[in-house]
Amino acid sequence: MHSSSHPVATVEHLSSHVGQTVTLRGWVYHKTSKGKLHFVQLRDGTGTCQCVLQRAQVGEELFEAVGRAGQESSLWLAGSVRQDARAPGGYEIDVSAGSVLQAVEGYPITPKEHGVDFLMDQRHLWLRSKRPWAVLRVRDAVITALRGFFDQRGFVCVDAPIFTPNACEGTSNLFEVPYFDSKAYLTQSGQLYAEAAAMALGKVYCFGPTFRAEKSKTRRHLTEFWMLEPEMAFATLDDVLDLAEAMLCHVVQEVLRRRKSELLALERDLSKLEAIVPPFPRLTYDEAAAILAKEQGSTFRYGDDLGAPDETLLSNRYDRPVMITRYPEQVKAFYMKRDPHNPGKVLCVDVLGPEGVGEIIGGSQREEDLDILLARLAEHKLPESYFQWYLDLRRFGSVPHAGFGLGLERTVAWICGLEHVRDASPFPRTIYRLTP
Ligand code: 4AD
Ligand code: MG
Repeated sequence: MHSSSHPVATVEHLSSHVGQTVTLRGWVYHKTSKGKLHFVQLRDGTGTCQCVLQRAQVGEELFEAVGRAGQESSLWLAGSVRQDARAPGGYEIDVSAGSVLQAVEGYPITPKEHGVDFLMDQRHLWLRSKRPWAVLRVRDAVITALRGFFDQRGFVCVDAPIFTPNACEGTSNLFEVPYFDSKAYLTQSGQLYAEAAAMALGKVYCFGPTFRAEKSKTRRHLTEFWMLEPEMAFATLDDVLDLAEAMLCHVVQEVLRRRKSELLALERDLSKLEAIVPPFPRLTYDEAAAILAKEQGSTFRYGDDLGAPDETLLSNRYDRPVMITRYPEQVKAFYMKRDPHNPGKVLCVDVLGPEGVGEIIGGSQREEDLDILLARLAEHKLPESYFQWYLDLRRFGSVPHAGFGLGLERTVAWICGLEHVRDASPFPRTIYRLTP
């Protein structure tokens, strides 16, 4: 029998099929056999469910075929759905029919422990395992929650290009690519385009892949990652802080509501996520510097950017994200507006996630004055000619405006409690990894 006459169900929604006979289609995640019984953990993409086959019930042919089906063999099984408190997902299938599509042996990823490099080489297969599977489902819920949040608040999604003629976040980590007779750079951030779109549509966001040739091999850096960047006309730094706080709370709430079982599969401490409620602590750079000055073992020097150990020291003091504002202008990007009340500082924010994930958001109010912006480009040794279109935004109806960028993988790593951002990406790209 190649197809089933019973309706197809998914493991995720078995609760609405108790007592009915349904078909599950998927793969053998795990199998044990005892005499006249096979217990198949069937994985269908939405979850896993134990399916029980009795020789007398399913017939010789199917029983033998399942007996020969190793890990990750593909198959369908039909049977009645039974609620069973002892079963891992709460339901079990008493199988009455089925068919093995492809019986395989020798699947490279076995239940034993494997090294990370081996598993990353097998990433195309590893995605089927419980932890990556759970992370990808959380990542999806984070994306859906983010888009919903901005949609509800009247933001319009406007995509930014990936091929760009100039740098946005400094020139040190640009990816250069040949572009016909000239050259282009892969985008580091969609911000400059989001600013143009905000002047056209008011409140916008862009969300797409961004690229940085990060030579550092840290647990926080990818060379390709996704960034969500809202930008608002007629907005200030305070608007950015309020928006970022509301957004992060919404995202965590939505993940807790929709992906609790995945978080539990990842052994995530849910109480840490339940603590993510407003208000988030807000510190100025000067206040943060004063804290670090008192910390034993900090190598921080006033005037420098915060290093990863400084960020960890600061974030460990709180149970929720901490917002650090008003950094010295020399450690930040050219477009940030200077703080009129704080010489040498800019109206910017870095949001540090809890539990040592580091910076998850970087944002600022933008410089709206043409002459100051021209001077800032010169200080940063950026070629004015490439920025003429951007400068037009200050020539025609310039207004105060502000926005930020959220790193998706760092956010997912924080919510899932992952040690390394690469695990938050389906196919991570780092200085040492371009495959699979
Ligand atoms: O702080 P960044 O560099 O800010 C910008 O690019 C602004 N133009 C955004 C804006 O205001 N529209 O990057 C924003 C976030 C960081 O806080 C971090 O979460 C993430 O992007 N990020 C990275 N994530 C993974 N790997 C990397 N190499 C990252 N670099 C930045
Ligand atoms: Mg930053």
